[in-house]
Amino acid sequence: MKIEGKEYRTIWFDEQNQVVKIIDQTKLPHQFIVKDLKTVKDAINAIKVMEVRGAPLIGGTAAYGIVLAALESSDFNFIKQSSEDLIKSRPTAINLKWAVDRMLKKLSKINSHQVLNTALNEAKDICNEDEKFCQKIGLNGLKIIEEIYNKKKDTVNILTHCNAGWLATINWGTATSPIYHAHKKGIPIHIWVDETRPRNQGANLTSYELNEEKIPNTIIADNTGGILMQRDEVDMCIVGTDRTLSTGDVCNKIGTYLKALAAHDNDVPFYVALPSSTIDWNIKDLKDIPIEERNSEELSHIEGIDDEGKVKKVMIYPKKSKAMNLAFDVTPAKYVTGLITEKGVCEASTDALQKMFK
Ligand code: MRU
Repeated sequence: MKIEGKEYRTIWFDEQNQVVKIIDQTKLPHQFIVKDLKTVKDAINAIKVMEVRGAPLIGGTAAYGIVLAALESSDFNFIKQSSEDLIKSRPTAINLKWAVDRMLKKLSKINSHQVLNTALNEAKDICNEDEKFCQKIGLNGLKIIEEIYNKKKDTVNILTHCNAGWLATINWGTATSPIYHAHKKGIPIHIWVDETRPRNQGANLTSYELNEEKIPNTIIADNTGGILMQRDEVDMCIVGTDRTLSTGDVCNKIGTYLKALAAHDNDVPFYVALPSSTIDWNIKDLKDIPIEERNSEELSHIEGIDDEGKVKKVMIYPKKSKAMNLAFDVTPAKYVTGLITEKGVCEASTDALQKMFK
């Protein structure tokens, strides 16, 4: 997708300098900075502090993290230890473990002198595949938007939460891919962007990337979706997911569940867009999903730009108050209208997922 008219992917390998390039998302929307990751530790840190974030991009970064480890040493023990450290960097998005396992499987079958090339090729394959899958998600989701437009014959209002945009993937996004495809096809759309406290991925990232693609959007406080649905101002919701259980339950950014409840109460279709790398075939009970709890400072402090254009962080809570920062929640399958995947749209259920992917 484009930033100031120039096409970018969110991560790539710089062959000449043997470094991994990322767009530092902690600096958006005020500064667009491309950062070098030189070591596997840099990759781990980038995931932890959310310079890169979003399930598919976390997976892509982990894959390139193994490439960086292989650049440091072709000793398989070092690579295995690095893999474990990468997996621990964030607990909820299953794509992280999925990508690391895929890299290790490939590397376990080759001689040490082939490690670097094999790792680099596999990391590139993982990213190319994600881009292709996200594009297909877009084409499959486009049909749903088209159907709504054909009935309504007026602007389709879509609500999204967090950033499941191209910044969260390698390109296109998951939830945003049907949106980009609808826009390219000339369907009039408008996006309600949940601000998504505390890290404001909606306001800082989703709105930013939609603006760059010239897609009309409005940022709303996280609690506004309910009244907009009661007023018939939301035609559908599309969100992403960090881990989709084989039961169809969906773990995504905190606040997704409440939006799904409001959608259910107001008969608003609630879709979840995902590549198959986000499916966890092992965990069956939503209570077993590891939910990340992040530093409460993400809640009590907020960053913005002052009148002189300087980025500043300020505290907004009473000094003595305690705060709790759970990063994800789980939406039970019964509240999900459908899963938009690279293979097509299916019901959020074990049967439908098995039929589509197994
Ligand atoms: O904490 P984040 O910003 O990594 O959370 C991201 C989300 O919750 C996204 O909705 C999810 O990863 C799907 S991204 C295509």
